[in-house]
Amino acid sequence: MGVFGGAIFVVISLLVVLAVTTLGHATGKREETVETGSCGGIAGTWVYDSSYPLYNSSQCPFLQKQFKCLENGRLDTDYLKYRWKPAGDCDLPRFDGRAFLFGLRGKRLMFVGDSLGLNQWQSLTCMVLTAVPDAKYTSTTVAGLSNFSFPEYGVQLMFFRDAFLVDIVSTSTGRALRLDSLQNAKIWEGVDVLIFNSWDYIQEGNKTYKDMNRLVAYEKALNTWVKWVDSSVDPSKTTVFYQGVSPDHANASDWAEPKANACLDQTRPLAVSRYPAGPSPAELVAEKVIRSMTYPVRLLNVTYLSQFRVDGHPSVYGFGGHRNMDCSHWCLPGVPDTWNLILYQSLVANNF
Ligand SMILES: *[C@@H]1O[C@H](CO)[C@@H](O)[C@H](O)[C@H]1NC(C)=O
Ligand SMILES: *[C@@H]1O[C@H](CO)[C@@H](O)[C@H](O)[C@H]1NC(C)=O
Ligand SMILES: *[C@@H]1O[C@H](CO)[C@@H](O)[C@H](O)[C@H]1NC(C)=O
Ligand SMILES: *[C@@H]1O[C@H](CO)[C@@H](O)[C@H](O)[C@H]1NC(C)=O
Ligand SMILES: *[C@@H]1O[C@H](CO)[C@@H](O)[C@H](O)[C@H]1NC(C)=O
Repeated sequence: MGVFGGAIFVVISLLVVLAVTTLGHATGKREETVETGSCGGIAGTWVYDSSYPLYNSSQCPFLQKQFKCLENGRLDTDYLKYRWKPAGDCDLPRFDGRAFLFGLRGKRLMFVGDSLGLNQWQSLTCMVLTAVPDAKYTSTTVAGLSNFSFPEYGVQLMFFRDAFLVDIVSTSTGRALRLDSLQNAKIWEGVDVLIFNSWDYIQEGNKTYKDMNRLVAYEKALNTWVKWVDSSVDPSKTTVFYQGVSPDHANASDWAEPKANACLDQTRPLAVSRYPAGPSPAELVAEKVIRSMTYPVRLLNVTYLSQFRVDGHPSVYGFGGHRNMDCSHWCLPGVPDTWNLILYQSLVANNF
């Protein structure tokens, strides 16, 4: 109850929070930034890089089947080979797993959210483990909290399924997050970094919003979250990231191939300089809300670069075959590895 006032329900498909908890001392001051993965917020392109992917999923037996497209029978492999190249004289840093662990030593990092949070957390754990294949690690899941720990470094990379501040309830349209509930707040005590992303259906009271109305609800939900962050999170101890919106490619009209069957059989990134459907409306909402915050949230701009990756989804190579067409999650290795490079870049630039 408390800071949230009236009940707001949010049905989400994707909600990601990344939390880094400093067990030792707090890090220094932080500035509000948009992390676009580029120098100066300009665009970039996906370039073929034969040194990619960053890892072989067979080295990470804990990866879930739904992301292991090759193992599920996907035959084309070019989609594994693309590196995001920011425009100009800029590059994303090469991921240095040892530097990452060293920078995070003594800290807890936590993704919280739904399956796209899982997607990115699994990518990160595999990237790190590949860099330090001989490091001891433990991996446990208890009561929705997955804990991937490197004891020698004192680093815990965690994923908490579902709710941040909120309870999951079932509705006729899917699952809903109650943004007025703080039942999970204990999980977040001492948190340093939070990252959110997009929500599919939103319900306030008994009314369910879809399409344009859902953007209104999305904005309300974000504002509720913003109130909590602004009033309850200490910027000297906590870095808050907003994940940005992970675009789906369920409707090929969005990229002007109306005859295509969603993302099925897409084998390379779109070779266009501008995504035909334009910016994601949810992204614009997020941008507006986050700019209004007093808390210096860092916005991870994953939307723009991911929009071009129509080839990056499991399509029918996700949940074990042809039952489902998954054009919202991402194959691993794949696009979330780049999100983690942007995260890594941001953490390195701010001395963790
Ligand atoms: C993300 O980056 C793109 C390309 O630089 C930009 O057009 C867009 O406004 C950015 N989005 C946000 C939410 O900052
Ligand atoms: C991943 O490793 C396995 C086992 O070592 C190997 O058979 C496979 O070819 C590798 N895959 C890629 C894409 O390199
Ligand atoms: C995660 O696992 C490590 C190693 O087993 C343990 O020390 C730590 O307490 C665990 N963290 C949580 C939050 O359970
Ligand atoms: C919501 O629906 C329930 C059950 O249909 C009803 O009892 C309740 O009064 C409704 N609340 C509002 C605010 O409309
Ligand atoms: C895909 O998008 C087009 C253009 O916006 C729209 O007319 C069509 O109904 C959409 N198809 C589906 C299956 O939602």
